[in-house]
Amino acid sequence: MDNSLRERISILPEMMDLLNQQIKQEQLASSSYLAMAAWCDQNGFSNSAKLFYDQSKEEREHMMKLFGYITNNGGAAISPSVEPVNHSFLSLRDVFESALNMEIDVTKKIHTLMSTARKLEDYNTELCLQWFVHEQMEEEQFFRDIIQMIELMGDSPLQLIDDRIKRENH
Ligand SMILES: [Fe+2]
Ligand SMILES: [Fe+2]
Repeated sequence: MDNSLRERISILPEMMDLLNQQIKQEQLASSSYLAMAAWCDQNGFSNSAKLFYDQSKEEREHMMKLFGYITNNGGAAISPSVEPVNHSFLSLRDVFESALNMEIDVTKKIHTLMSTARKLEDYNTELCLQWFVHEQMEEEQFFRDIIQMIELMGDSPLQLIDDRIKRENH
């Protein structure tokens, strides 16, 4: 693509800055899930660990999706620094509740981005963000279902709960 064409479709700087912040959020989510996977592995919950390794990989893919969107539109994507993340959890349930809280937080950020794209009449970014809006809805539901399952199983042995998680993570 020659430069004159690139300039014409260049992403709005204000939007680009916000998308770069979201890249950082997705990296943070990826690192947080890796820490959750490590905790699950250390505590003998191998099915839950697998679920969080998968989640960590997915969050990196989200990051790369935004990264690609910025660069494909002539912008400057910023490789995010890795922030320290929480490695200590009280229980398996605490891990899943932390995951849900993180997803709820990310959803709010995606919605704020969407509002900005609409305000700026940036339809390309709006289209890109539609995918994330849908993804967030699914991810929140996924963790809500698991937490509900843990609640229903009550005082069942934790290993049994971990076995059930294998079926949830299809
Ligand atoms: Fe994500
Ligand atoms: Fe997510």
